[in-house]
Amino acid sequence: MAGEFDPCRSRWEIAAQELNEMNEARVVPFVNQKGGVGKSTVVSNIGVELTRRRLRVALLDTDPQGSLILWRDGRDAEWPFVRSLRSRDLPNWLSKARKEFDAILVDTPGHDMRSLAEVAVVADLTMIVSQATVLANAATAYVRKAFIDAGLPYAIVLSHAPATMTPRLTAWLDKHRELGEIAGGFLAYRVDFQDAALRGLGVSEYRPDGAAAHEVARLTDWLLERLELTS
Ligand SMILES: Nc1ncnc2c1ncn2[C@@H]1O[C@H](COP(=O)(O)OP(=O)(O)O)[C@@H](O)[C@H]1O
Ligand SMILES: [Mg+2]
Repeated sequence: MAGEFDPCRSRWEIAAQELNEMNEARVVPFVNQKGGVGKSTVVSNIGVELTRRRLRVALLDTDPQGSLILWRDGRDAEWPFVRSLRSRDLPNWLSKARKEFDAILVDTPGHDMRSLAEVAVVADLTMIVSQATVLANAATAYVRKAFIDAGLPYAIVLSHAPATMTPRLTAWLDKHRELGEIAGGFLAYRVDFQDAALRGLGVSEYRPDGAAAHEVARLTDWLLERLELTS
């Protein structure tokens, strides 16, 4: 019955429905000037987790390397929707397809600030993916300056982190905090991410009870809150 209280529906389903009614997908690119930081892995895993929460998710691969396309080709599931797109074609694609999705995550190449700018300018929030290393921190500082100069919203998420909150990780989180807002939650270095990718899965499909899946769920919680997609 319409309007009937249904305790089986999770708050995420309700959020998804509200979003459908608003007809406006959130656009979130994952970037860094440095390759290998974990951008494609974060995109595929958050994409799967949002799909599990009943959101209609598109993953756009703007990296000529095509990691997401390779990942999708190893998958059977229909969702999340994955396609490759040139960054300069994103505004046009969004004008046609944005209404069909609740969340659009964009994977980007490293070393291509022009492509990054084309994507960031249409984003609701850009996530700079970094690591607990001096090189990743330096690359993040470089990218973040471009966002500050352009007045575009961004936040930082760490990948490949130590599995426990060591003093070293705390120090790197503090160092990144000097550069901007840090996501609630980070992804540790865990073989689950590699084993899941090999099978075209997200870690929450591959080993739902594993630590990696919990980290992805926590990060997804944060992202949904940050994008005001919670009910
Ligand atoms: N959290 C993680 N733990 C372990 N390995 C990871 C993790 N994230 C990514 N990887 C691995 O690191 C490599 C680079 O990750 P990838 O997502 O392709 O980075 P990028 O897209 O930034 O170049 C891949 O082999 C991937 O499987
Ligand atoms: Mg990549």
